[in-house]
Amino acid sequence: MLEELNEEQMYKDMGEEGFTALVAAFYRNVREDDLIGPMYPNDDWEGSEERLRDFLLFRFGGVTRYIEKRGHPRLRRRHFPFPVDSAARDRWVKLMRAAMDETNVPDPHYQTLLGFFAHVANFLRNQPDSAE
Ligand code: HEM
Repeated sequence: MLEELNEEQMYKDMGEEGFTALVAAFYRNVREDDLIGPMYPNDDWEGSEERLRDFLLFRFGGVTRYIEKRGHPRLRRRHFPFPVDSAARDRWVKLMRAAMDETNVPDPHYQTLLGFFAHVANFLRNQPDSAE
């Protein structure tokens, strides 16, 4: 309950502009990244940005554009083609945290989002970690 209120307030405080700025900053970081950058299609950064932004607007704001365009998120299935091990998970979260810093996501939304991203990124792991 408390969490739901928090999410509603997050959407009110950040607005579509806040999520758009966050995701744009995130993909600027991803594009430069040696580990996860190469996993993304290099000719569709705008599309990637739109899908993640719309997903977050759906998850936190109830805006249904993502569902209308892509259907049920099925994130685990949609990430099967990409090798997500702990290193990829940690890198994704690190780049997202940098984007949250860059775009000044305020508390308590910063903590709520970070917890959400860390949880989903861990759930998306689909590879054993490479041997030491
Ligand atoms: C754990 C490390 C992760 C890696 C390596 C990764 C990588 C990718 C790649 C390569 C794509 C395909 C490009 C695209 O269609 O945009 C993608 C799509 C997507 N990812 Fe991730 N991702 C990760 C974590 C996450 C997390 C934590 C979330 C959400 C909180 C997320 C949400 C999405 C969404 C919404 C899409 C588009 C799905 C669609 O509609 O096709 N990803 N991801």
